[in-house]
Amino acid sequence: MTVKKRTPPFLEKKTASPSDREKTRSNELGDSVGGSQESTLIRKIREKFGTPLESAESDAKKAAVDLRGRRAVMELRADRLVHNIRALRELSGQLEILPMVKANAYGHGAQWVSRILAQQTGICGLGVASLEEGREVRRSLKDSQRTLRVVVFSGASPWTEEVGQFCEAYGLSPVLYTEEDFLSFLRQGWQKRLSYELKFNTGMNRLGFGMGFLSRVKRELEKMPAEHHPAGVMTHLACGDQPEHALTRQQLDHYSVIRRELANAAPSARYSLGASSALWNQKQFRLSEISDHVRLGLSLYGVPPWKGAPLRGILPVMTVKAQVLQKRALKSGDLVGYDGAFRVTQGSFAQHMAVLGLGYADGVNRHLSGKSQDGGYVWLGGREERVLGRVSMDLTSVSCSASVEVGDWAEWVGDHVDHWAQAENAGTIPYDLLTCWSDRVERITN
Ligand SMILES: Cc1ncc(COP(=O)(O)O)c(C=O)c1O
Repeated sequence: MTVKKRTPPFLEKKTASPSDREKTRSNELGDSVGGSQESTLIRKIREKFGTPLESAESDAKKAAVDLRGRRAVMELRADRLVHNIRALRELSGQLEILPMVKANAYGHGAQWVSRILAQQTGICGLGVASLEEGREVRRSLKDSQRTLRVVVFSGASPWTEEVGQFCEAYGLSPVLYTEEDFLSFLRQGWQKRLSYELKFNTGMNRLGFGMGFLSRVKRELEKMPAEHHPAGVMTHLACGDQPEHALTRQQLDHYSVIRRELANAAPSARYSLGASSALWNQKQFRLSEISDHVRLGLSLYGVPPWKGAPLRGILPVMTVKAQVLQKRALKSGDLVGYDGAFRVTQGSFAQHMAVLGLGYADGVNRHLSGKSQDGGYVWLGGREERVLGRVSMDLTSVSCSASVEVGDWAEWVGDHVDHWAQAENAGTIPYDLLTCWSDRVERITN
């Protein structure tokens, strides 16, 4: 068999002819791996929001990337990220957006994402989990973006002078969520030097001041001049996808007490309580009446907030592809991979198999191993194919059609692979699958 290393269409050089260009565009949007028709969904989104912009410069860069010899690549599309933030801004109306770029921007690269988002309007800050993440994000921003807040959600505790100095040096806004931290912060006078936010626990029982601490917060805020007040007051919904859940009702009740009590004590504070799921349910929550911004992660990267949720115009930013390294025909009785975990039965769907250069050391969840048709799936040769047998460290075997060849690319994450379905196959959630890719998977940004 001839070994053919094929460049995926995403990276192919464009031709000059307008009809070809149109074809390639639709390929990029709807069919970046296989040869099937542009999906109705992608077409609808494209009609509504327009084809994402492509600069001549990024075309040139794409053409220059040579994928020969690569096992697996992660393509990250700036045009999709910009498209998503615009779609989300249209959706959120008056509500501002605080993009969450923690966890390396959900695996997409915190610096790359931050630089792109910092140029967009309607953004009221960037959210990170730790001081180190905050420093990385701040370093990626230009001096002219100094006023863009970088909010540290959980890494500034316990509060010390050193933490304060770190925040000051890198322009970070800490979220204070323990009573001790809040009181130390005030005692040390950091309210005069740093922008900061307060977080209340309204029932999720994760981070936040207890409701019993509200009156103390109020008294402290009343004592200080307005310019030392917190920039924000927040809570976090445990069930943002279930507006009618009893816990949601309780959280909303507590949240409205907080807003009422602090209305005069900190009138300039901006309020927030929810993430992507709250935005998707914004009507039920009357979100724009009760908050000033939403903190968006998953949807920003093109994944809807729960299984089956409408896409509302967002598109996946990340595509992960692996090359077919070897292909073989299968016959009844053959066993595939470690422990022979997959057995080919009479009349099995698995007539051929392809070995992909991607395994658990790259970030493939091992629970996607397949004993029958129960494991994960990929998009290969224009159709869905199942994982056969154990996912191993560097390799994963999948079923394939007779026409698939060595050098073809299988899409593991992207337009053709539903994040929620794949996560369900692995017994997890898309957040987990997005954030697990190792450095061995080469990142290609456009
Ligand atoms: C406090 C907080 N706000 C917002 C988000 C963003 O959530 P999502 O990715 O569902 O939009 C998270 C996610 O973990 C979070 O912990």
